[in-house]
Parts: sequence; C-alpha cells; structure tokens
Amino acid sequence: MDRQRDLELILRSRMPIVVIETRDEKRMLHLLRTIALSGTSSEYLPLFRWTITDGLQRLDIELEPQLHNSDPPEVLRHIRAVNKPGMYVLLDFHPYLQEPVNVRLIKDICLRHREVTRQLVLISHKIELPHELESFTARFDMALPAEEERERIIKRVANEYSREHKGSRVQTDPKAYKLLIQNLAGLTDHDTETLARNAIFHDGAITKSDLPEVMHAKYELLNKGGILHYEYDTAKFSNIGGLENLKRWLSLRKPAFLSDSNLRHLDTPKGIMLIGVQGCGKSLAAKATAGIFGLPLLRLDFATLYNKYHGETERNLRDSLRTADVMAPCVLWIDEIEKGMAGRGGETGTAQRVLGSFLTWMAEKTSKVFVVATANEISALPPELVRKGRFDELFFVDLPSCTIREQIFAIHLKARGQRPESLDLARIAETADGFSGAEIEQAIVSALYSAHANNSELGTQHVLEELERTKPLSVVMSEKVSLLRAWAAGRTVACD
Ligand SMILES: Nc1ncnc2c1ncn2[C@@H]1O[C@H](COP(=O)(O)OP(=O)(O)OP(=O)(O)O)[C@@H](O)[C@H]1O
Ligand SMILES: [Mg+2]
Repeated sequence: MDRQRDLELILRSRMPIVVIETRDEKRMLHLLRTIALSGTSSEYLPLFRWTITDGLQRLDIELEPQLHNSDPPEVLRHIRAVNKPGMYVLLDFHPYLQEPVNVRLIKDICLRHREVTRQLVLISHKIELPHELESFTARFDMALPAEEERERIIKRVANEYSREHKGSRVQTDPKAYKLLIQNLAGLTDHDTETLARNAIFHDGAITKSDLPEVMHAKYELLNKGGILHYEYDTAKFSNIGGLENLKRWLSLRKPAFLSDSNLRHLDTPKGIMLIGVQGCGKSLAAKATAGIFGLPLLRLDFATLYNKYHGETERNLRDSLRTADVMAPCVLWIDEIEKGMAGRGGETGTAQRVLGSFLTWMAEKTSKVFVVATANEISALPPELVRKGRFDELFFVDLPSCTIREQIFAIHLKARGQRPESLDLARIAETADGFSGAEIEQAIVSALYSAHANNSELGTQHVLEELERTKPLSVVMSEKVSLLRAWAAGRTVACD
C-alpha cells in the first residue's frame, strides 16, 4: 500500500521529529505498528506510545504502561536519558509544545540524534510547531483514501449491514453507487466509513436520495471555520425572467463540466462573473447555476472572512478554497466579490494577498468547482480580476426589457398563486419601464396587500398604482447605471 511505503520512507530518513496531523489516530497507530514489526533487525526500533492519561507504553510488544512517565516534561527527560534507540509516538502532545521547558527538552533529544536515534512521532489533529524545532522535523500527510479504497469501505459497510439484518442485501442503484464513491472523496477513512454507514443503514439501500445528505454531512465535517455556507436554496431556470444568453451559455457547458471522461477535447469551464445593476437577478442566477448543474451550492462570505478572522484572512480563504476543491463537483458562489478583493480601510495589503491567493487558485485549479462571482461596484473591482482569461466569461446583467419584465411579472404572480392571464401584463410591463426584477417583485407584493385591504381580487389597477408610487433605482441612480453600462460595453457580454 502506497501510504505505508511513504510513511516508511519518512521514518527511515531518521529525522528526529515526524509530525502527522490526522483525526484517524487509531489507523495511524496501526500503520506505525505494522511498519515497526516489518522492519529488518538491523534497523529495528522499539516502539513506544505516550498519552497524558496512560503515560508511556511499549506498543510493539505487550507490556504494562508506565504511569510515572505521564507528565510531559517527565517523559521527555526519560527519553532524553535513555541511551538506546527507539521510536516514541506522542499522542496529542500539541498543547505542551507551548512550554519552553518541553521545547528545550525536545531540542536536546534532537541534538543528540546522531549518537542515539530516538525518533519522536507527534500525532494530533493539528500541530503548530515552535520555530526552534522546524529544522529537525519532517511532516507526513496521511493521503486520503483513493477511489478503490472508498469502494472497499462502502462494500465493507454493506456487508456489515447484511450480517446485522439476517443476510438481506443492500439494494443498490448503480448510478447512485458510483456517485457515492465519487462524492466521498476527500474524507479520511474514518469519515468515509461514517457517512457510508449513515447512507446505508437508515434504509438498507444506496439510492440517489442519499446523495444530498451525504454532501451536506461532508460539508459539515470539512467546514469547521464557518465562512463557507451550504445553500439549500437553489433556483431553477424557470424562476428567472430573461438572461437567455446566460442560460444558453450554461446549458452548453453543463455536459463538459459534469462529464469525467468522454469530453476531454472540451476545456472544463472554470466560472463566470456577473456584473450588473442592483436587483436584476445576479444572486438569483448564481443559485440557478447550481440548480441547472444539479450540484451543491457553496457560498463564500467575504464579510465573515474579514471580520471574524482578522489577521488570518488569507489562510482562511485558502482553507475555504481547499474545502471547495474537496466538495467538488460543486458551484462556488462568491457574492459581491469586489468587497473582498478591494482594500477596506487600512487593509489594502491583506486585500492584495487575498486577491493573489484567489487568482492563483483560479488559474491552477483542476477540480470541478464552478465559480460564480457577482459584483455591482465596478469602481471597486481590481482590474486583475476582470482581465481576459480569469473567468470564462464576464456577463452584464442589465435592467430587463419590456418583454422580459412581462415574464418577471408572470413568474412572481404565479409564485403567489395568482393567474397572470387575468391581468393586462403588457400594459403593466410597459409602465414598469426602468424597474429591476427585485422592484417588480416588490410591486406585486404591495399590490397584493392593497387588493387584500380592499377585499378584492388582484387587478391590473392595483399593480399600476404601485408602479406609479415607486421611483425605481434606475431613475434615482440614473448616473450610476449609465456609468455601469458604459463600463460594461466593451468588457462584458450581455445576458439577454
Ligand atoms: N430576472 C429576474 N427574474 C425573476 N426574478 C427576479 C429577476 N431579477 C430579480 N428578481 C427578483 O428579485 C430578487 C432579488 O434579485 P437578486 O438578489 O438576484 O438581485 P442581485 O442582482 O443579486 O441584486 P444585488 O446587486 O442587490 O445583490 C430575486 O430574489 C427575485 O425574486
Ligand atoms: Mg445579489
């Protein structure tokens, strides 16, 4: 097995410290023991395990733990004094690395490493090593289970189910089975098994209906920080009036984005940017992209990124992007991207680095993460972000035309149980010149209230009155809208 060979190579390199970050401690110990026992006699190192609760204990042969060696400085002093080679696995030692005395004791052990090989293997879920120790250290990344391994885990869980249910076999939809193997990518063995068990044990079957739950559980496991949000609420094409060009573009790319083999001659789409007038459906279109592709939608929240993780902004962005990579295939929606990439107050430096990290990720990404970025403040958009080649396309979302306004009215009337045929939509749409989709929706909401107050059915007149009462943003901010259009003219493609 490759992982075992990789770990063996690192251990045999005889670096004084080997750091392993993993949540799969049991599996790691098993692996270390297998390696220790398979070693040839000339290079054999006795294997010890330490925990704060049990102290030091021999792992390669059965011996009682030595409780007197449970205190961290005490066990390090003991190791330092031992004149025989050995491998010491310290479990969850990370909090004690804050103590100067422990750091120095470890350094003492490292400095005499050439004379006596006492190798320290630190295993925790996360380890920040003091700088003094970095040069003595090798890190081992526990590779995550590959496709065949994931399949083996699922089969093992399915067999377990059969054994516990008097031999009844797990019902499997072949397509869902294949997708389950795919969707469990990026998790540890332990988590893969847990999610497979959840999917199989609740109804004894692997079906398509298991998949959304698996993706959500996976997201919960991966996204501990909380700046990526899992959006349950995706939309359909039919929820959007207009944006025909965008809809066509997405439909054409869908097969290439979702296929994994037979469309190699087509480049995998990377993502799009939607720029445009407020309330004209940018966020809605981002949601619809996930709906059309039939993929989970993750939203990256820049406001939290800056506020909650002051000083760690960049690292958190990288972590979030990595999570998105692992969640692939998925749609990553970055709402109001300009707010994250343009310096806020004294944070220009941070914003520059955030932009750099993001662009590098976009350029190098091979995972199936389709990015939909939205923006409405062009003056705050860094030019690097909108340069050709960054996104597959920049779309401009303009105010809806008369025909499209008619569609939008119909969509929102239907959504509220009204019959669009009973109103003079052509006249209404014409009157609503300059209204955004959001304003159209709002007009209907208010008109329904007026009708209700008059104890009458909704009529054309109610809507017209609402429209006359409202000054649309395009009028209030006409200058801004003109500037936006002028900017978009040479740079973007129209959505309609
Ligand atoms: N083209 C449209 N078709 C149907 N409904 C629309 C359309 N445009 C806007 N709406 C309605 O207006 C609401 C607000 O639109 P949305 O949030 O998508 O706009 P936005 O462009 O993201 O605005 P902002 O710039 O303020 O973020 C939508 O939830 C939807 O109900
Ligand atoms: Mg929006």
